[in-house]
Amino acid sequence: MTPLPDTLAAEDADLVSAVDALVARHGSARGELLPLLQDLLADRGEISDLAVQVVADRLGIAPTEVQGVVTFYKFLGTGPRGRHMIRLCHTLSCVMAGARDVATTLETELAIPVGATTPDGAVTLEWANCIGMCATPPALLADAEAFGDLTPERVREIVAAVRAADVPG
Ligand code: FES
Repeated sequence: MTPLPDTLAAEDADLVSAVDALVARHGSARGELLPLLQDLLADRGEISDLAVQVVADRLGIAPTEVQGVVTFYKFLGTGPRGRHMIRLCHTLSCVMAGARDVATTLETELAIPVGATTPDGAVTLEWANCIGMCATPPALLADAEAFGDLTPERVREIVAAVRAADVPG
């Protein structure tokens, strides 16, 4: 199992504290993995790579097992989903290339935070792990279409295209 880093950024330390609080509430039995992840998702709006690692560490199981549940759960859906999904990669290459700035532009354009769905039910915005566009970061998936080399202007175009394609149910 990959050891956790010795020093953590404040944001990451906050995440570790959140996981520890949930483990204190649920216990560390393997059977608590899913409820623990559900609460973590509700609390944080996402389950990051670090969260996967910390949960695995605290429950004494392999990160791949945790990741498997997270992936399965994402496809099941974790709340109201929009008619369209925008998934912004937050794995290393994309973060280094400015994924957080892209997230800010997306949040402004859609007027929702990452992890939420627009009030009209059109778009859900969420983080994703690597989507295979590492050569052109930052990158996102808009429904099934991948976009790389994102700039604020490009992001605005993508959001406009998604909105234009939307047919309210
Ligand atoms: S790291 Fe973002 S697409 Fe691979």
